[in-house]
Amino acid sequence: MKKKLLFITLALIVFGLVGLGVLFSIVKEAPLIKQLLSKSSDSKAVTVAQLGEHASEEDCLVAYKNEVFDITWFISQHAGGLQIVSLCGQQADQFSSQHPGGSFEGPKIQGILKMSKVGTLKTE
Ligand code: HEM
Repeated sequence: MKKKLLFITLALIVFGLVGLGVLFSIVKEAPLIKQLLSKSSDSKAVTVAQLGEHASEEDCLVAYKNEVFDITWFISQHAGGLQIVSLCGQQADQFSSQHPGGSFEGPKIQGILKMSKVGTLKTE
């Protein structure tokens, strides 16, 4: 009887650990969590030339008010579709926004940018 109880307890621990491992590996692939986990520093200096090297749907950096954001994770969720890719590798300040109010200052966009900061723009 005691042996059976011990076996069941061990089995529950093993399955529990495996389950947690699987859950963690799935969760860490979620775009937002991946973004947060990979964000080691948000003060990296990025030159305008380096910014321009990240201009695709798969690798999209955007600068706004001298801050640099990696918005790759957000592209597939953008309500305006792939139009957002035209900003990749660019300084958003140089574009007029097609969003309500005509700027990038709205709370939704600012919230997304805040979550995505990876560095600052080095202009000289
Ligand atoms: C930093 C880059 C951008 C971010 C974070 C962003 C974010 C967003 C968000 C949050 C919405 C939903 C607005 C709402 O629910 O009130 C939206 C809508 C939209 N965005 Fe963007 N956007 C970006 C760049 C762009 C660019 C470059 C374009 C076009 C060239 C664009 C075109 C649109 C359009 C047309 C909509 C409205 C879609 C609709 O209501 O049917 N966006 N964007």
